[in-house]
Amino acid sequence: MSVINVNDKSFQPYLTASEIDTQIKRLGIEINGDYAGKRPLFIAILNGSFMFASDLFKELTIDAEICFIKLASYKGTRSTGHVITSIGLDESLKDRHVLIIEDIVDTGKTLSEFLPQLKDQHPASLKIAALLHKPEALLYPINIDYLGFNVPNKFLLGFGLDFDGLGRNLKEIYRLVEP
Ligand code: IMP
Ligand code: MG
Repeated sequence: MSVINVNDKSFQPYLTASEIDTQIKRLGIEINGDYAGKRPLFIAILNGSFMFASDLFKELTIDAEICFIKLASYKGTRSTGHVITSIGLDESLKDRHVLIIEDIVDTGKTLSEFLPQLKDQHPASLKIAALLHKPEALLYPINIDYLGFNVPNKFLLGFGLDFDGLGRNLKEIYRLVEP
């Protein structure tokens, strides 16, 4: 691994593929234990979480389902402020054990606005798995139940995370080199 360039920015290696894999395997073991017999429904939030969701899901040895959604945010036409809606959530969440799969929790805004909508559907339980979390950036209180790594408040790239649409394919995670 060495420094890479995407558009006009440079990124240096931060987490190796093997370090990521080790944490995902650990989370898989925990989830297998906690959700045995509960047939959890994973809800993976696109785009960034596709690679984490796929690797984590492969670690499961229990019965589980997965679906993928996109969150669209827009300003309400009246004074409703910022609204987040999900696209592609067809399943009923009532009485289901739901586990949200996120690539990274940064400010926590996305999840803090979206979780109440899911709670309205009365799931049996609602938890969050995130590969990465920037504690210093958190502005909205979010409790992450299954976390891969706490990371510094720096822009990260790779393993699903993009910069201007590029870099999602990288097997490792890189961080921005600041001038
Ligand atoms: P939040 O609502 O601020 O928690 O935003 C989280 C979303 O912002 C993540 O799901 C990512 O899509 C994106 N994001 C946050 N930090 C980074 C980063 O360092 N690199 C790439 N995308 C990021
Ligand atoms: Mg995301």
